Amino acid sequence: MNHIKTIGVLTSGGDAPGMNAAIRSVVRTGIYYGFKVVGIRKGYNGLINGDITEMSLRSVSDIIHRGGTILQSARCSEFKTEAGLKKAMTMAKVFGIDAIVVIGGDGSFRGARDLSKYGMIVIGVPGTIDNDIGCTDYTIGYDTALNTVQDAIDKIRDTAYSHERCSVLEVMGRHAGYIALNVGIAGGAEVVLLPEKSYDINMDVIKPIIEGRNRGKKHYVVIVAEGVGGAIDIAKEIEEKTGIETRATILGHIQRGGSPTAYDRVTASIMGAKAVEVLKDGKKNRVICMKNSQVIDMDIDEALETKKSIDKGLIELSRILAL
Ligand code: ADP
Ligand code: F6P
Repeated sequence: MNHIKTIGVLTSGGDAPGMNAAIRSVVRTGIYYGFKVVGIRKGYNGLINGDITEMSLRSVSDIIHRGGTILQSARCSEFKTEAGLKKAMTMAKVFGIDAIVVIGGDGSFRGARDLSKYGMIVIGVPGTIDNDIGCTDYTIGYDTALNTVQDAIDKIRDTAYSHERCSVLEVMGRHAGYIALNVGIAGGAEVVLLPEKSYDINMDVIKPIIEGRNRGKKHYVVIVAEGVGGAIDIAKEIEEKTGIETRATILGHIQRGGSPTAYDRVTASIMGAKAVEVLKDGKKNRVICMKNSQVIDMDIDEALETKKSIDKGLIELSRILAL
């Protein structure tokens, strides 16, 4: 017999489109299976401060199409301390929370694992635009962010074409270049700079632009991942060294918002439901992952040890397609 009566749900770390669809799925499947579901606001801050309210079927109406997270999100340094974790456990007891579904990134899962050491049952649901969680092929929000960036590149290409310019576009991803590499291919960029791969400005940026010009190219798109940084300086150097007029754009948080794509809504709905099913089956401390298009669950320690690396073949393909 499963002793869980009340499930808490929270969103933590950077928000991502589709988090609302995941919350809705946890709430509705949870209630369907007879659990009480409570929403914890502002990530782990809300757990520490008792910012917690019961969710009803109707409390998640009209959110499936909305970006952001109705529970709001936060980064909480106190939660990384023993005192913070103890406060969180006390508040969980006050509200009768038996298990918590944490929708967030790798950092949020590390926090969840820490809490599990104090006896809380935790389930992680991957949500971040970066797609940088080792244990899963996909994280909620990534597809929407890719489409947002691709739309921006298409617009930038229009004006780069008109003015025969080079455009340098900085996209999110402090530690991971998944967004940069994939939109580089989707947007037909000449150069993509990733945090996973060191680069030489002359050989990896200036040379392909000049060679492209000699083959008849008239405008250029350079994608720089946030983790590489320096888009404005890179643009100046390109202009100085090639004589091609160059502009820099830093896309910023526009990439984190917006209505989730159908893929993100469906994936979030499946993953949220899976989190509840895993609890219903009496499992503890799991992370919901996508592996080979299947949604599965994995032990949280194993999940946090799993690494993934950027696809070297895709890096090579982006270089070849830029010819
Ligand atoms: P994300 O979940 O998107 O990776 P962060 O890395 O900012 O985002 O983590 C979100 C929150 O999770 C942090 O503010 C903190 O409360 C908690 N957290 C992050 N890293 C750890 C850690 N190593 N140990 C415990 N808690 C952590
Ligand atoms: O993890 C998601 C993300 O958007 C990263 O791509 C980016 O580096 C970071 O969060 C930005 O964080 P903040 O919103 O705190 O500036």
